[in-house]
Amino acid sequence: MNLERLEQAFGALVSPTPAQLRRALISLSPCMEQLGPYIPEPLNLPYGRKVLFSTPHVEVVLIHLPADQESIPHNHGDSFGWELVVSGTLTNMIYVQTNNENEVQRAQTTHVSTGECYFVEPGEIHAIRNNGQSPVVSINVYSPPLRNCRQYCPFEPTT
Ligand SMILES: [Fe+2]
Repeated sequence: MNLERLEQAFGALVSPTPAQLRRALISLSPCMEQLGPYIPEPLNLPYGRKVLFSTPHVEVVLIHLPADQESIPHNHGDSFGWELVVSGTLTNMIYVQTNNENEVQRAQTTHVSTGECYFVEPGEIHAIRNNGQSPVVSINVYSPPLRNCRQYCPFEPTT
């Protein structure tokens, strides 16, 4: 995955629509052979994260979520995004806010296989989990670039 390919796919996008951003992401046809040298190891988060490319309109991020790891529920501020799974199977959990504004409850869970991508709406609260044995690697694109992301506490009902 060299910078030139990212520049070709995303460099000219100005306030892209979700469809335009998805098309640009798919056009990369990313594979693990290309991404191998760039895979970020987790540091202070459950997942590794590396910004591959950014403009005032688009941000491209490489994510590495090891087996059995899970992110904290969060939103992406006003940005929308597409997340393309390049390796493994990702579990995407969507949350809704409870009466406590910092607390969220899981509403929906979907599984995203290698080669599939999913859309994250502006303001949507989600978390990603790797239930598998092999690492999940994804390329995520956001427009506009991420800012004002917010994290939430998951509400776990006691039984
Ligand atoms: Fe996210």
